[in-house]
Amino acid sequence: MVLNQEELNIERETAELVELAKQARENAHAPFSHFRVGAVVECRDGRIFTGCNVENSSYGLSLCAERVAVFKAISEGARDFVRIAVIADTQVPVRPCGACRQVISDLFGSEAEIVMANLRGEVETKMVKELLPAPFDRSFL
Ligand code: THU
Repeated sequence: MVLNQEELNIERETAELVELAKQARENAHAPFSHFRVGAVVECRDGRIFTGCNVENSSYGLSLCAERVAVFKAISEGARDFVRIAVIADTQVPVRPCGACRQVISDLFGSEAEIVMANLRGEVETKMVKELLPAPFDRSFL
């Protein structure tokens, strides 16, 4: 398959995003599950916010990498999000959990992209609305 320059640039950008998520994963605090996850939020203005999972001895208090990245971004004043990437050491590109899908859908909207990756270099991109169709959102409130 021949890619044009624009497609090549998009590919390069995705690879960069995945690499940043991989670096963020290095900071994972996962002494209980040993399942290390990294995530990166990309804003429309180009800003990047990274996250890793942070587990707690009271297990239910653990936070996923995606929500750490998203809440870091929100707390820094960012609002206009275009993509989130997530990576883990999985057989197929890792999927965000249901709670993270809800948070991403609420704050990114249904048209944003979720880039899912693993350490084997496999990458899969889906839209938020594909991973969370018919979400609960502010229109119900
Ligand atoms: N985890 C994430 O960080 N993101 C996901 O999308 C799936 C799960 C974390 C939570 C917990 O620390 C560990 O992975 C095992 O579930």
